[in-house]
Amino acid sequence: MPAHLPPYPGAEAADSAPGILLLVDDDPINRQVLRCLFELERYRIVEAESGRRCLELAVSERPDLILLDIMMPEMDGFAVCVALMEREETRNIPVIMVTALNSPQDEARALESGAMDFISKPFNPKVIATRVRAHLQVKRDRDILANRTARLGLANHLLEQEIEEHLKTEQALLQARGEIERMNRLKEGVIKDLFQALCEMLSSRDMYTFEHGLRVASIARMIAEDLNLPDPQVEALELGCLLHDISKVAIPDDVLLKPGLFNAQDRKIMMMHPSLGARIFARQACSPEIIDIIHHHHERLDGSGYPDRLRGEEIGILTRIAMVADSYEAMIARRPYKKSLLRPEALARLTSEAQAGRLDPRVVVSLAKVTERWDPLAIRHDFNDAISRELERFRNKTYFKEPLSDFYNYRYLFHLEEAGLLDSQTQGYSLTRVTFANLEQINRRHGYLVTDQIIDEIGSQLVEAIDRLVEEAGCVTILLRKGTSYLIYSDCQGEILAVLHQDLDSCLERLAREWQGEGAYLTLGFPGGHPVQEAICRLLDPAA
Ligand SMILES: [Fe+2]
Ligand SMILES: [Fe+2]
Repeated sequence: MPAHLPPYPGAEAADSAPGILLLVDDDPINRQVLRCLFELERYRIVEAESGRRCLELAVSERPDLILLDIMMPEMDGFAVCVALMEREETRNIPVIMVTALNSPQDEARALESGAMDFISKPFNPKVIATRVRAHLQVKRDRDILANRTARLGLANHLLEQEIEEHLKTEQALLQARGEIERMNRLKEGVIKDLFQALCEMLSSRDMYTFEHGLRVASIARMIAEDLNLPDPQVEALELGCLLHDISKVAIPDDVLLKPGLFNAQDRKIMMMHPSLGARIFARQACSPEIIDIIHHHHERLDGSGYPDRLRGEEIGILTRIAMVADSYEAMIARRPYKKSLLRPEALARLTSEAQAGRLDPRVVVSLAKVTERWDPLAIRHDFNDAISRELERFRNKTYFKEPLSDFYNYRYLFHLEEAGLLDSQTQGYSLTRVTFANLEQINRRHGYLVTDQIIDEIGSQLVEAIDRLVEEAGCVTILLRKGTSYLIYSDCQGEILAVLHQDLDSCLERLAREWQGEGAYLTLGFPGGHPVQEAICRLLDPAA
């Protein structure tokens, strides 16, 4: 709205002259009489001796009222009045006819012409002065009203314009906001897909960690929704949890895939993954919440976690949720090398962790609530394609293979058994131990390196024989090394097992012939389902 509007017309007149009167009469005496009368009343007087002059002065002087004679040469008062009423700039000037005419018809005609009043001569000066004052007051009031209406109209117009501008701006803003939101959704979608792809890449190294990420993300989302966290935080939490262990892709297989318990060195390497992940993602314009989850999901509220030993309020709510979801999944998930817990036991452990001040009790209570009717283990990723299967099998095999040789560590058998990959669980198997009796002598005669080479040679010959057997007979036979002995696991039976023994005999003959070595073997048979670990113990120490 503009700061200045025009002042009310008439408002200023009240302070100075009461108004401008235009006296129109062809008789100067009549004009003189009226002039004397109204000058006494302090009016400013303008005079016109004809109708034409009246029309000119009405425009140039803008009188507040016109006292108009009717009977004038050329243009009479009626015609003048009609002309005044026709003109936009003069139509609002009140006209009082002052005339010698006095018939009602004349009065009616005067009013029809547009005059406001009709006064017959001779007039009473008081009457004419009062009427003039009254008409001027009416005009002034009318002008003020008109001006106020105009101002109101202008203000309304400006207001409407302003509202229209606002609406336009608002519409443009809404459009822009919609566009930004659309772009953000698109960006988030792309980032999510990209991160999912990163996680799948991790799955090609460690499929359990990939499934773990998917489940932790879902558990965390459900807890966050139960705790009524705002949507953007829930989104960040889900993404952070999906990615929280992604940096394990950089952890060497020896640690990442280690089936047994970690030693101090393994733990040190594994504990690097949160800092490593946070460092990688800090460079990718990730939101701080996501980086915090990746960096601190192994912290504990009492400062006993890692890597920064954060405490209490230093750990935000999203990371607290990630900590609980991560621990719960790790407890209930089934892995070949660890015992999985059932929900009640896992919740009991987490509750006691919360009571000990390590986890947020609100989050643990919420976890109990959301897992009441929903099992995160239902989330499974289908790794069952041929490539993944083959890669996984090879990874497992090579993990247990002695570097640069074809011999497996005997623990490979435990792994296969626990992973349910041995048919021996149903059909029975044999274990054979090949030992060398006079290694000390060979050492002395040829040196340690040659002795080692001889054992490898025998092993290689056994690998060849076993490969042939596996190919021909289709049964599972694996050569394993334990110190300076070999172990052979085989589910071959009867004649095929006899072929294996013939191969063993020929290996030992060669040992004696070429290196004067003395070797022997012992085979024990076990029924289907007999624990391999126990079978190996029996074989290594038959007396026990
Ligand atoms: Fe982790
Ligand atoms: Fe984890």
